Amino acid sequence: MRRDWPSRRHESEDMTTPAHVAIIMDGNGRWAKARGLPRVAGHRAGVEALRQTVRAAADQGISWLTVYAFSSENWSRPKSEVSDLMGLLRIFIRRDLAELHQNGVRVRIIGERDGLQPDIAALLHEAEALTAGNSAINLVIAFNYGGRDEIARAARKIAERVAAGTLAPEDIDVETVSAALDTAEIPDPDLVIRTSGEMRLSNFLLWQAAYSELVFMPCYWPDFTKSHLAEALEQYASRERRFGGLLASGAAS
Ligand code: IPE
Ligand code: IPE
Ligand code: MG
Repeated sequence: MRRDWPSRRHESEDMTTPAHVAIIMDGNGRWAKARGLPRVAGHRAGVEALRQTVRAAADQGISWLTVYAFSSENWSRPKSEVSDLMGLLRIFIRRDLAELHQNGVRVRIIGERDGLQPDIAALLHEAEALTAGNSAINLVIAFNYGGRDEIARAARKIAERVAAGTLAPEDIDVETVSAALDTAEIPDPDLVIRTSGEMRLSNFLLWQAAYSELVFMPCYWPDFTKSHLAEALEQYASRERRFGGLLASGAAS
């Protein structure tokens, strides 16, 4: 039942559609537990929800979709669960990369690459290289990602430039830091969605989400459908984004 993905991109004309949606895909384990299944079954169902969400996001005219797939703190889970999650990433890239590419999806990965198993690092590289010329939608996978780790790595890069004498400390500003993050070429998320009912960021896009609208939804990630996405987009459209300033109407009065 494959069909061509829409090429329409209307975010520039329509400010009520976020250009960049980021999702904390949470609740796989609880979804499985509620069904008397092992946690890995929840993660498998979560991959299916991800497939559908990439398609739904493209249908909605979203240009950037970032998904939190594995955090820098998720290594603290039992070895068997970490290995299940690594296995699922392998399967997702091996099985879905060709179709994502065919549909014009550009895949980018954020997170720490050093220390990953060599075959995983190679798959991540392959996904980025194969899809580098695509532009229908950008799928950013946050893998081995933590906001604090990302900012610390950025600080290290900046410090190296200062030590090498190519950057003066007084020239370091918000732009310098932004450009040293993994997200250097990625716009800030307009909307961050978290499923499962938890109301926290869990180290996701700490710098980039400074002015993002946050939507928390009670459903577990494997149950997330295009209607949930539509509902989150509706909430987003009803928000007033002020970025610390005043709305045009507020400024006038
Ligand atoms: C999200 O689901 C997937 C990852 C963190 C990799 P969880 O595994 O956190 O599921 P819950 O939160 O325990 O239900
Ligand atoms: C955040 O979920 C990480 C991902 C969704 C990949 P967690 O389940 O790891 O977060 P906490 O532990 O509930 O804060
Ligand atoms: Mg969780």
